Amino acid sequence: MTPVVVAVDGPAGSGKSTVARAIAAELGLEVLDTGAMYRAVTLAVLQAGVDPDDDRAVADLAQVSVIEVGEVVWVNGVDASHDIRGPEVTGAVSRVSANPSVRDLLVERQRQWVADHGGGVVEGRDIGTVVFPDSPLKVYLTADSSTRAARRHLDEQVAQRQVGVDDVRADLQRRDALDSGRAVAPLRPAPDAVVIDTSGMSVEDVVKRVLQEARSVGLVE
Ligand code: DC
Repeated sequence: MTPVVVAVDGPAGSGKSTVARAIAAELGLEVLDTGAMYRAVTLAVLQAGVDPDDDRAVADLAQVSVIEVGEVVWVNGVDASHDIRGPEVTGAVSRVSANPSVRDLLVERQRQWVADHGGGVVEGRDIGTVVFPDSPLKVYLTADSSTRAARRHLDEQVAQRQVGVDDVRADLQRRDALDSGRAVAPLRPAPDAVVIDTSGMSVEDVVKRVLQEARSVGLVE
């Protein structure tokens, strides 16, 4: 049987992680956060003192870095769950994720993860367009920039990182431009994705809406 993949894509702060976790619980699937994989490679790059714009060196380092993404994110045997969300990684991750060799490597690992786990809810930027274009349910979440900035700002406060909401908004805009404008696997909805604007919606309502779609494609009763 082909493993079932639910693709959840969208920009930062659109609600992907929260919604992906809730959907996975409802469908009895596990979640893969592919953004955490790109962040983990970026942390390894920064720790090794490699220039994030040096495509060759970054690709070589990605090949030899030992990365594990789950409840805890491990980078070369060290718990990096906190550090991958820090400002240094957030500042460099769009450059590392524009590297075609890094993308090839991580896409291959994402497909392997799904094969090993018998399917899953996979969240990212290019899951419906590139990684699993045959997924029966592709969800693209979006939200206006104030809503997204407010959500990410709350994440920063919970993580006890002192940063103003205007800086968070500026960072989101910068990353959106880089992630949407890159040549390889840019951020965009797949032609058959269900696009949901989550501004002003509660998590419960978004989850309900996605489950409705899951029902209509026969993933749940
Ligand atoms: O979801 P996130 O903000 O943690 O993702 C961090 C960065 O990783 C994001 O700015 C773009 C990149 N990314 C990507 O290029 N492709 C993915 N499938 C997931 C994330």
